[in-house]
Amino acid sequence: MPKKIKTKTPSDSETLMTEVVYPNDANPMGMLQGGRLIQWMDTASAICAQTHAEKIAVTVSLDKVLFKNPAKIGDIITIKAKITRAFDTSMEIFVRAWARKVISMETYMINEAYFTFVALDDNAKPTLIPQIRPVSSEEKEHYNDALIRKGQRKK
Ligand SMILES: CC(C)(COP(=O)(O)OP(=O)(O)OC[C@H]1O[C@@H](n2cnc3c(N)ncnc32)[C@H](O)[C@@H]1OP(=O)(O)O)[C@@H](O)C(=O)NCCC(=O)NCCS
Repeated sequence: MPKKIKTKTPSDSETLMTEVVYPNDANPMGMLQGGRLIQWMDTASAICAQTHAEKIAVTVSLDKVLFKNPAKIGDIITIKAKITRAFDTSMEIFVRAWARKVISMETYMINEAYFTFVALDDNAKPTLIPQIRPVSSEEKEHYNDALIRKGQRKK
C-alpha cells in the first residue's frame, strides 16, 4: 500500500520576517540593494518551504521578480512568504516585501517574486512532500495558477 501523503494549508507555514535597512545594505544613493533584498526573501521563503516540507529544502529557481519601489536606509522591511502549491518534491512560494517609514508609518510594497524549493532526503535527493489544501479564494487562485507557472518553467 502506498504511503499516505499528508495535507497542510498555506497558513500552516506562512512566514513573516522583519529587517531594518542599514547603510551596509544600501547603494551610494541610500537605496536598499536588490541583492540584499533577494537574500532576505530567499531566507523567508526557505523557512516557509522547510516548515511545510518538514525537510531541508533548497532553492531551485526564482522568477517573476519585480522591484516595484525602492526602500531607503532606516526603513523597516517586512517580508511575507506563503506556499501556493506543493507538487511531488517541489513547492512554489510567493514572497512579497513591504517597506515602512519609521516616522510617517507610510507602508508600500517594494518587491514580489515566486521561489521554487525542492525538499531533500538524508541523501540530498528530492523527496515527497505534503500536499496543499488551499482554503481562501485567494489561496485557491494561487494554487490553480501555480500549475500553469510550473508548466511555463518546464518550457
Ligand atoms: C534541487 C535539485 C536537487 C533538483 O535536482 P534534479 O535532478 O533537477 O531533480 P528532478 O529533475 O528530479 O526535479 C525535482 C523537482 O525539481 C523541479 N525542478 C527542477 N528544475 C526546476 C526549475 N528550474 N524550476 C522549477 N522547478 C524545477 C522538478 O520539476 C521537480 O519537481 P516535482 O518533483 O515537484 O515535480 C538540484 O537541481 C540541485 O541540487 N540544485 C542546487 C540547489 C542549490 O544549491 N540551491 C542553492 C542553495 S539553497
